[in-house]
Amino acid sequence: MATKLFVVLLLACLLAEILAAPSTEAKVRRNMIRGRPRGGMKKQPIMTEADAHISETVVSGLFTQTLDHFDNTSTSTFNQRYWHNNQWFKTGGPAFLMLGGEGPESSYWVSNSNLEMTKLAAQQGAWVFDIEHRFYGNTYPTQDMSVTSLKYLSSAQAIEDAAAFIRAMKTQIPELANAQWVTFGGSYSGALAAWAREKHPELIFAAVGSSGPVQAEVDFVEYLEVVKNSISRNSTACADSVSNGFNTVASLLKTADGRKQLKSTFHLCQEININDDKAVKYFWETVYSPYMEIVQYTGDAAGAFATQLTISNAICKYHLNTQTTILQKMKQVNNYFNLENEYFGCNDISYQGFIDFMKDETFGEAQSDRAWVWQTCTEFGYYQSTASPIAGPWFGGVQNLPAQYYIDECTAIYGAQYNSAEVQTAVDYTNKYYGGRDQLNTDRILLPNGDIDPWHALGKLNSTNPNIVPVVINGTAHCADMYGTSTLDSVYLTQARQTIANVLDKWLKQSN
Ligand SMILES: *[C@@H]1O[C@H](CO)[C@@H](O)[C@H](O)[C@H]1NC(C)=O
Ligand SMILES: *[C@@H]1O[C@H](CO)[C@@H](O)[C@H](O)[C@H]1NC(C)=O
Ligand SMILES: *[C@@H]1O[C@H](CO)[C@@H](O)[C@H](O)[C@H]1NC(C)=O
Ligand SMILES: *[C@@H]1O[C@H](CO)[C@@H](O)[C@H](O)[C@H]1NC(C)=O
Repeated sequence: MATKLFVVLLLACLLAEILAAPSTEAKVRRNMIRGRPRGGMKKQPIMTEADAHISETVVSGLFTQTLDHFDNTSTSTFNQRYWHNNQWFKTGGPAFLMLGGEGPESSYWVSNSNLEMTKLAAQQGAWVFDIEHRFYGNTYPTQDMSVTSLKYLSSAQAIEDAAAFIRAMKTQIPELANAQWVTFGGSYSGALAAWAREKHPELIFAAVGSSGPVQAEVDFVEYLEVVKNSISRNSTACADSVSNGFNTVASLLKTADGRKQLKSTFHLCQEININDDKAVKYFWETVYSPYMEIVQYTGDAAGAFATQLTISNAICKYHLNTQTTILQKMKQVNNYFNLENEYFGCNDISYQGFIDFMKDETFGEAQSDRAWVWQTCTEFGYYQSTASPIAGPWFGGVQNLPAQYYIDECTAIYGAQYNSAEVQTAVDYTNKYYGGRDQLNTDRILLPNGDIDPWHALGKLNSTNPNIVPVVINGTAHCADMYGTSTLDSVYLTQARQTIANVLDKWLKQSN
């Protein structure tokens, strides 16, 4: 199957990069899709040779999982991939379970000893596990990804997967019969970690849900407001230039000559057809995407985001250059982003090409994108629109990317019933089912969030319950706490990790 090959290649590239020069093979530029870059939102950093050494205590397995947890007459099952490692386990210790999110999992989170979860495991004598989310990676619950099959893809099913997995491990591994289980996750799976504790307090003792958007929202206008603020926080002069750049693009779009300039500036494969509204919006996604992705991950100790794809190095370095025109600055940001990601071709702005790609019902190259966009259409929304009265005009116009554009994609990809009324109903249901930010009916959850990460706007940032512990980290991006310690870590990040360790320690000790 094509996907398997693709995933293997992806992992091989990450490992190969340690030992060999970067590959020069051209990749097609793919925009961040609903906040999800290639590979998933929780990044898997490039490993050092030492990190890549996998201990023989790391074991992979296939768990026989129930296809439909909400229909007790259904007997279908599938193989769910998982990994575990007992190298830090001490008798009587807890079990830590990393929940996979919207991308492939691997042995990474249970084998690299310089990660938040594995360091906490060493402190607590924990056995560590990682399960892959259904429909992502090599966990194929169904024969294909048709809409009929995708009905089995939901966060609620994924949470029941985790519960079934824990129940089974408690019997299969006698040392864990009475262990306290703690769920971990980042981004979407950070929300899942908290929700799993909420839904299964009888199995899950506590949760650490990093950068989890626990509030679902159709029109996620705050996303670009944070992007604006985060760039401004680094440099107001840079921010002014970025705003000027987007507004220059907006005015050039109005004339044939201007569109010709834009085609060259952004190295587009196609002409911008001004009479095709979808094509123009898809072009806008191409312009926004590097700024969104850079701000979402800036400074994370995760590959190129640590020092290269940062706000100051990948955006402001170009925008603060007094020798270049505004279009040159926009071009340079785009080129640098493409170079760092090894996207060497022209930028494809064919809207129909994107829809056709997403309509592929096999577990092919679009697998994760098709699965993630399905979850946004049927559960979360999270549509990063330009509708904010603050950020919209700043970024060239409130109409550039309305939520309706993303909802129309739901309809175009999955069918007529996935329309705006359905998306709104689905999002309301999700907030009712989990309680949203304000009614999380649980405790013993830690919720780290970085305040320059656009996703933090949908996280839970304060709480009156002393056992729901938000940890807002000054100046960090998406999932920053989860990665290994680095010399680049700010004092705020170091303190946040310490808080997380202390609170978890207190909870685990109370239970004994
Ligand atoms: C299935 O679930 C229904 C409703 O929850 C319950 O009434 C019924 O007894 C269950 N059947 C089996 C076979 O467990
Ligand atoms: C902007 O970011 C750079 C690199 O991360 C940092 O050195 C600089 O101090 C930041 N400036 C401000 C004002 O935060
Ligand atoms: C608490 O969180 C809400 C929602 O995220 C936010 O609007 C509010 O400003 C926060 N309050 C404080 C005191 O930080
Ligand atoms: C956040 O970090 C910045 C830069 O280090 C600092 O100026 C500011 O005071 C910090 N804010 C808080 C609330 O600690």
